[in-house]
Amino acid sequence: MLVANPAGGNTFKVWDAPLRLFHWLLVAAITAAFLSSEGDSPIAAWHMAAGWVAAVLLAFRLIWGFVGGEHARFVNFIRPSGIVAHIRGLVTGHPERTVGHNPLGALAVLALFAAVGAVLWTGIQVDTGKADEDIHEALAYGMLALVGIHVAAVLMMSLVTRDNLARAMVTGRKRTALYPGARDARVPGFMAVVLGGVVVIAAVFGITRFDPAAFSPQAHGEAGEGQGGEYTAAGHGENPDGD
Ligand code: HEM
Ligand code: HEM
Repeated sequence: MLVANPAGGNTFKVWDAPLRLFHWLLVAAITAAFLSSEGDSPIAAWHMAAGWVAAVLLAFRLIWGFVGGEHARFVNFIRPSGIVAHIRGLVTGHPERTVGHNPLGALAVLALFAAVGAVLWTGIQVDTGKADEDIHEALAYGMLALVGIHVAAVLMMSLVTRDNLARAMVTGRKRTALYPGARDARVPGFMAVVLGGVVVIAAVFGITRFDPAAFSPQAHGEAGEGQGGEYTAAGHGENPDGD
């Protein structure tokens, strides 16, 4: 029998809906960016578009870290002082459950944001002929390694704390029985949702000003290959599919 919590029910709210949407769309965008990254990929024309979607998501997440739901806010999960105690708990076999990100996980989250940002930045530099593809590729694989650590850590923590963290990132809720006395997380306010929407619209607008073809299929491959690319302020030359 599960214990009822003050908010009522066997589960309580942890992750707000926009944060969960952000997470799974980011997973989709990064997966698409990798699958399209080789010039001979059948979806190669979508590489830049996938990367730009990740850029919009990152812009949203940065503002959401200030105005979003309780556990989305940076002030509520960046706690370097808790890292040592968290690691001690892990090595002594007494891992602690954390309602939001645990102190070590918070570091991984920040590292993931930085890695995605660096990959995007160098992608733009390659595309505009200002950087070599190798740097972008190396950073992309570095980011992939971090994602591997992230997923392994999520699975490991789910096992040792018997709390299905991935499910919580889907449903937004955790089981009250594992967190006695827990209450529903504060949800984002109406103005926060408006602001998040404005940031998404502004990011899309800014990106399409920079690259009008950002969200359409466009040629890459030879274009960026060490020779400065064929970028023009008006876009990236002809769309290979002719549409
Ligand atoms: C491209 C792949 C992925 C990227 C870039 C990524 C990135 C992130 C980021 C940035 C966060 C922090 C969420 C936030 O506060 O904004 C996060 C959290 C999380 N991710 Fe992922 N993720 C990826 C794949 C996955 C997969 C495959 C799973 C499922 C096993 C997963 C499960 C989770 C969970 C459960 C959390 C919350 C962790 C916690 O409880 O503290 N992620 N991820
Ligand atoms: C998370 C997002 C991204 C990931 C994971 C990613 C990943 C990669 C990888 C792995 C390569 C090397 C492909 C190879 O082996 O030939 C590559 C190439 C490239 N990327 Fe990205 N990228 C991302 C975003 C971007 C963005 C936003 C842009 C530009 C706006 C971009 C532009 C390029 C270009 C021009 C190349 C060279 C393509 C070629 O010459 O074959 N990327 N990317």
